[in-house]
Amino acid sequence: MAAVEKRIDLGPDDKEIERLTAQHKIMKSCYEKLILAPIDLSKPGLRILDSGCADGLWLREVQPLIASPHSLIGTDFNPNLFPSDPPGQIMHQAQDITKPWPADWANSFDFVHQRLVLGGCGPFGPEKAVKHMIELVKPGGWIQLDEMDLAGEQQLPGMGGELGRIIRAVFEASGGQWDFATKMKQWMIEAGLENVEEKTIHVAFGKSNPDPEIAKLGIWSLTTSTKALCFAGKTEMGIKGFTEAELDSMGERCEKELIETGVDSPMLSVWGRKPL
Ligand SMILES: C[S@@+](CC[C@H](N)C(=O)[O-])C[C@H]1O[C@@H](n2cnc3c(N)ncnc32)[C@H](O)[C@@H]1O
Repeated sequence: MAAVEKRIDLGPDDKEIERLTAQHKIMKSCYEKLILAPIDLSKPGLRILDSGCADGLWLREVQPLIASPHSLIGTDFNPNLFPSDPPGQIMHQAQDITKPWPADWANSFDFVHQRLVLGGCGPFGPEKAVKHMIELVKPGGWIQLDEMDLAGEQQLPGMGGELGRIIRAVFEASGGQWDFATKMKQWMIEAGLENVEEKTIHVAFGKSNPDPEIAKLGIWSLTTSTKALCFAGKTEMGIKGFTEAELDSMGERCEKELIETGVDSPMLSVWGRKPL
């Protein structure tokens, strides 16, 4: 029997952009830099892809670091998220990572980046999606994938562990895998990439973030996404392993822990280079 695919929907697009913007600021505050792959950004003419880019914020943030001229492309399967008037040299195009990429994009990018999208692969599976993205990288170019380490998250005490388990349940209910982050490095090595490196970054949501404004954003964004996940889990996703009382109270319990102590979520970033 074919695997069932249910799309994960966390709410209206404008609210989702607000939540993703907050989440971006929190991650940025914990990453030493957004591009960890050792690319020479001073070289003019770079062609860079951000896959699953939502409203393209990551591209707009890295653009000032990249020598001009350049060509920055942001794709997402939901084109309603794209900005109506992106800055010059940034272009957006609808693309589902589980569907074939434009044939003329093969071997064409100096850098392919993707953050927090592999959970949206459904039954197609993240391994094939990563393989197809590697095909877009030109010889000598780099790919960097940033994903939540759900295996590590589930081991956390308190709300961190509970959140890890509910995100896993939602990915599973969508017909997808959940344990892809710890496999990305192996997939890159198997695809023949060189200089493959992996780094764990602890993203501090709520009180544990040293910047009080970013701490506030963490309380709001993680509470909002927890409530949306619990609602989706209870209704259209029909997740298993949680009581109704647990799902109904998780948002408020999460908010309390974020205010009192904070939740430090592990992210895994992996990057590698296609041989010349
Ligand atoms: C959690 S958001 C991350 C957005 C952005 N990469 C960031 O880090 O802020 C996931 C994004 O992936 C997109 N997405 C989910 N499944 C996808 C798929 N199969 N193909 C392309 N985009 C997908 C969603 O529309 C959403 O914009």
